[in-house]
Amino acid sequence: MLVSFKEILQDAFRGHYAVGAFNCLSLEHVLGVIEAAEELRSPVILQLAEVQFPYSPLELMAPMFLDRAARASVPVAVHLDHGQSFETCVRAVKIGFNSVMFDGACLPFEDNVRETSAVARMAKAVGVDVEAELGKVGNTSFGTGDSEDHPDVFTDVEESARFVELTGVDALAIAIGNLHGRYVATPKLNIQRLKEISARNNMPLVLHGGSGTSDEDFKACAHNGISKINVATSLQMAVTAKVQDYLAAAANPDYITMKHVMKDATKEAVIRHMLLFESDGKA
Ligand code: 13P
Repeated sequence: MLVSFKEILQDAFRGHYAVGAFNCLSLEHVLGVIEAAEELRSPVILQLAEVQFPYSPLELMAPMFLDRAARASVPVAVHLDHGQSFETCVRAVKIGFNSVMFDGACLPFEDNVRETSAVARMAKAVGVDVEAELGKVGNTSFGTGDSEDHPDVFTDVEESARFVELTGVDALAIAIGNLHGRYVATPKLNIQRLKEISARNNMPLVLHGGSGTSDEDFKACAHNGISKINVATSLQMAVTAKVQDYLAAAANPDYITMKHVMKDATKEAVIRHMLLFESDGKA
């Protein structure tokens, strides 16, 4: 069933677990994610980022997300990930997504507040929830994600409280040494900073760049205020690896079997994450 983002995250926040938000680029991704959630009785978030629109267009993906969410026997939210403009957030709201992320993290603080607030006013007027980001979650091309590497890009505790108060967002994505993409080494997240941000804000926080995070850090995040964990790259890598194995082994590979391989690889990777996030049995 389609359930509000805020409700899913508030339950996770109170229960000290995290809900996986999986970037779905294909039908097989969507089917695999929902099957995993239903099998584990876990809430889940289907999401699509604006940078993914060129190969997974919003207008084609959204009806698929919304149909599966409505039919699912567990709570599902349908979310715009990394909206880069007010206009994109409006597009996602109009098409039926029940939450949007506006990503103003690269803007100066005051500009991020102003633009996020405008998105929040628009979204809340029609009952849609909002995530925003403060601090810089880079990509793996600029480091290993080790906390020691870039302490200056971490989310500031006092700034986070001012940001939440001024914008009224429902969830805040933070930077604690996490990076998007494929890590060259396992990052070490700054859990102490997470605890400080969580104590100061007492609301659902979001970890971006979930792929490549250690099991230990995933659990520490889920137990200390991270209520949503974004995972994209690992799903793509899991599917690619299984398709490679299938094509290497099959004497007469066929497309329909390959579609099953893709869905099952997605499901397996999602189950692994949901168990680490401890969202199983919560739906
Ligand atoms: P990864 O690709 O590192 O899992 O990051 C996903 C993400 O944060 C999407 O917003």
